Amino acid sequence: MRKPIIAGNWKMYKTSAEAKQFVEEVKGLAPDASKVDSVICAPALYLQQLVASTESSALQIGAQTMHEEKEGAFTGEVSPVQLKDLGVNYVIIGHSERRQYFNETDQSVNKKVVAAFEHGITPIMCVGETLEQRESGETGSVVEAQVEAGLAGLSEQQASELVIAYEPIWAIGTGKTATAEDANEVCGIIRKKVASLFNEETAQNIRIQYGGSVKPANIEELMGMEHIDGALVGGASLETDSFVKLLEAGS
Ligand code: G3H
Repeated sequence: MRKPIIAGNWKMYKTSAEAKQFVEEVKGLAPDASKVDSVICAPALYLQQLVASTESSALQIGAQTMHEEKEGAFTGEVSPVQLKDLGVNYVIIGHSERRQYFNETDQSVNKKVVAAFEHGITPIMCVGETLEQRESGETGSVVEAQVEAGLAGLSEQQASELVIAYEPIWAIGTGKTATAEDANEVCGIIRKKVASLFNEETAQNIRIQYGGSVKPANIEELMGMEHIDGALVGGASLETDSFVKLLEAGS
């Protein structure tokens, strides 16, 4: 039985005061951690403050990206050692915005996934196809290739603990959600790929989220699907009311 995981991705939104207020309001309302993993992936600047304010609550704090090296001359970057030092337990890796605007590739995504595990941080690795790829029938092969490259070198244990977020790029921030059936079909393809790379047990353990215009109105249908174990949420994670509703639907 896989525990659902609902993660908000704030992207480059919120001031420090807004972040603090959100977390103060939500932390007491997050469902019991035995029912659902509730995570907010905040801008790096606020991680220290938010980790401290959510201590001993069910709300966990994650990062939105990281560098793969533990230290070095990489101006502006944040390392896995630094994230762990702050008490961060999750990190989004390879979000399509990182792939599109910051030149992240399947290979750099893989390095980051491996590095996150080395430092005790659970990666939420994003995969997903463009509209063009979907329309030309390449969704399955694109996503399978991203999964194969991203999981290279992981142990069975690490692969079991990884979270994969399936985010069709055309559904991000557009209000267009994949139908629950379509999202489930691709998450099923991902699970099957994990089984072929590792084994059936690992595939049954790995948690797969759907992301792309998830909101309170569609979360229940998505969560009712066999292969969907949670959601990675952008816009609807910025408002306390909608995020709490998503957490409740996940629990
Ligand atoms: O990481 C979250 C995704 O990019 C989805 O964003 O919920 O605003 O479509 P969205």
